[in-house]
Amino acid sequence: MKQEDVQFYGKFAPKLEEIRDMLLREIQAMLDSISTDSETAPAEHIKCRVKGADSLKEKLRRTGLEETPEGGLRGLSDLVGARVVTHFIGDIYTVLELIQHNENWRVKRVKDYIANAKPNGYRSLHIIITLPFGVGGIETIDAEIQLRTIAMDCWASLEHQLKYKKAVRSTALIVEELKRCADEMASTDLSMQTIRDLIKKG
Ligand code: GTP
Ligand code: MG
Repeated sequence: MKQEDVQFYGKFAPKLEEIRDMLLREIQAMLDSISTDSETAPAEHIKCRVKGADSLKEKLRRTGLEETPEGGLRGLSDLVGARVVTHFIGDIYTVLELIQHNENWRVKRVKDYIANAKPNGYRSLHIIITLPFGVGGIETIDAEIQLRTIAMDCWASLEHQLKYKKAVRSTALIVEELKRCADEMASTDLSMQTIRDLIKKG
């Protein structure tokens, strides 16, 4: 965590970092339980983070919640977040199943933005989990796990970068072109899955 984030989270900072590290270890262990061979590993990489103070404050303001760590812990689900980037689309649903059967947490909600892409083209599977312990007086804490393919991650990170270049106004053309790229990448993901299935069948 950055110094300014540690300052904002105060007494909650160490526990949040602990939860972040636990989540990373748990996801890694879960993935290792089905494959330790890099050739068949479902995930390309995993990232875990505690939401930065600026981004948290902005979201609390936007959602009308109290702009404090407690406001976030009670009202939001993604103070601690993990992202699992998989090779193929099928891997996403393999990992989803592992998460659903993991006894270290309870799955609270699954948002499938792959089956139902956002209007801008965004695709990912979002899973909100509830951890069975809290932080300083708050009984349970939620975390968000995002599952996406390398192609979905590529699009989301480029789109994110473009969105934050405030000087560039999103014209209809830009919106349309981004959506077209997302759809083309989704179509490529499907083709790659088909090729993989063909190779597997031998
Ligand atoms: P916020 O979008 O953060 O307000 O949360 P939400 O409760 O609406 O959840 P949602 O499932 O829509 O998105 C949560 C997270 O998914 C975001 O913090 C981003 O990491 C990611 N995300 C959602 N939509 C987009 C998008 O259009 N582009 C990109 N790059 N990321 C997105
Ligand atoms: Mg949203």
